[in-house]
Amino acid sequence: MRKKIIAGNWKMNKTFQEADELVESIAQGLKELNLSNKEVVLCPPFLYAEMVSDYAEEYPFSVGVQNVSEYKRGAYTGEVSAEMIQSMDINYVIIGHSERRAYFHESDDMLAGKTDRALAYGLTPIFCCGEQLESRKDETHFEVVKAQVVDGLFHLDKDEIKHVVIAYEPVWAIGTGETASKEQAQEMHKFIRKLLAAKYNQEIADEITILYGGSVKPDNAIELFAEPDVDGGLIGGASLKADDFIAIVDAMKE
Ligand code: PGA
Repeated sequence: MRKKIIAGNWKMNKTFQEADELVESIAQGLKELNLSNKEVVLCPPFLYAEMVSDYAEEYPFSVGVQNVSEYKRGAYTGEVSAEMIQSMDINYVIIGHSERRAYFHESDDMLAGKTDRALAYGLTPIFCCGEQLESRKDETHFEVVKAQVVDGLFHLDKDEIKHVVIAYEPVWAIGTGETASKEQAQEMHKFIRKLLAAKYNQEIADEITILYGGSVKPDNAIELFAEPDVDGGLIGGASLKADDFIAIVDAMKE
């Protein structure tokens, strides 16, 4: 059975002290939950990753970061390599978030390179895809998501793709309070799984975790996560509030 994952993407929020309080509250809350067959991943800013990792040694969650360099090592001021991330015992990395695609001009080629780097160092990429509002309106959303998945991931072989988590995040639903309906989420997740089955095989497609992201909150999480191809969520705003995040983790049933 494929793994269910709830990942919190803190983006560029919180001071160190606030982040420490947040992770402590989340960690305490998680202790009370039954987490069998679901994994919780916290993705703080790089600077706080070590602090969050220290908690992860004692509490039931994993740690991810929000970006990785496509370069191996060397004179790349300001970059953080997959090798560095691995050496800090961090397991996940978000790749191709729509904010990075839009504000930092990350191309499909770069994202394919970042995915390769992450996999080469044993990290699990959480590879994001999702259409802008215009594509949803002019009904090119399937084409757009297909191109992102094909260009970013389909150079991988069968053994590599198995280690990737995909996150479908319609850009119009991120941080807007607007959520894709459970039907819209399910339809796109099923479409992505079909692409995976056609490129690799059904068994592999069935093993790959596909997360939904975009204004997931405690009150819509239950119905989104009940859809058969929605295997969890990538949570932005609501992951900054311990109670909301814990409620969302609890909403993911086995
Ligand atoms: P949101 O962000 O939950 O605040 O919409 C999701 C994301 O960007 O991963």
